[in-house]
Amino acid sequence: MVPSQKLRLLCASVAVYCLVSLMAVTTTSASTNCSSLLLENVSIPAAIQVPAGQKLQVAYYAVGLQHYSFNGSAWVLYNATADLYYTEKRAGSKRAPVVGQHFFLPHPDAGGGQPSWETFIPCTSLVTAKSLQAVTVDPDSITWNLFEATSESGSPELLGAVTYLQRVESKGGLPPSSTEGAQVGDLHATPYSIIYAFYVKDD
Ligand SMILES: *[C@@H]1O[C@H](CO)[C@@H](O)[C@H](O)[C@H]1NC(C)=O
Ligand SMILES: *[C@@H]1O[C@H](CO)[C@@H](O)[C@H](O)[C@H]1NC(C)=O
Ligand SMILES: *[C@@H]1O[C@H](CO)[C@@H](O)[C@H](O)[C@H]1NC(C)=O
Ligand SMILES: *[C@@H]1O[C@H](CO)[C@@H](O)[C@H](O)[C@H]1NC(C)=O
Repeated sequence: MVPSQKLRLLCASVAVYCLVSLMAVTTTSASTNCSSLLLENVSIPAAIQVPAGQKLQVAYYAVGLQHYSFNGSAWVLYNATADLYYTEKRAGSKRAPVVGQHFFLPHPDAGGGQPSWETFIPCTSLVTAKSLQAVTVDPDSITWNLFEATSESGSPELLGAVTYLQRVESKGGLPPSSTEGAQVGDLHATPYSIIYAFYVKDD
């Protein structure tokens, strides 16, 4: 559901207010914001660069679990559940506000996307996407990926107009390295942290 004009306006002002407040507490420089800070020292491999004509909308630090099930020959990823935070520094601290969630839809959407990201502060918006490219940067962690949005909804100031997204700076999240002793249907959840960066059309 696309919110009414009035609601969108309200959403936009609340979003700006929130970002400005967060900027005030997380950085002393008025020229940077949380999203660009999160990505400041991250060098993004060429294989997962977003296509030209996009700009960064927002980035979240995420902490959660990658869920695997054993199918008889391999551990297969079937879900991810993670909390989204504006900044890395606030995640894990008692005052860290969880601003959204990452999860897999029960079934892929019409565009073949299943991984989804939803924010609910200050307004609700959701994007579902499918992976286009993956590169291994750290062999002990899940790949860094480029995703293309397959559907989105809600506030266009947040995730409602996202075209592409990246996951970078992964720590952990790999399935068990061995399948020894595993039975069909066994489940395993591995902790991970990551940065999800969301892009919109630059027009
Ligand atoms: C990026 O690296 C520089 C130099 O090491 C450091 O001073 C700065 O704090 C880093 N920025 C972030 C957001 O970690
Ligand atoms: C945050 O910084 C990024 C990268 O510089 C920029 O694209 C984005 O528009 C900024 N967001 C806000 C709300 O200023
Ligand atoms: C288990 O998953 C692996 C990796 O996706 C796949 O190659 C294999 O065919 C699957 N096996 C069964 C029995 O479904
Ligand atoms: C993933 O987990 C979330 C949260 O428990 C749940 O809502 C969703 O349906 C799950 N997706 C799959 C594919 O199991």
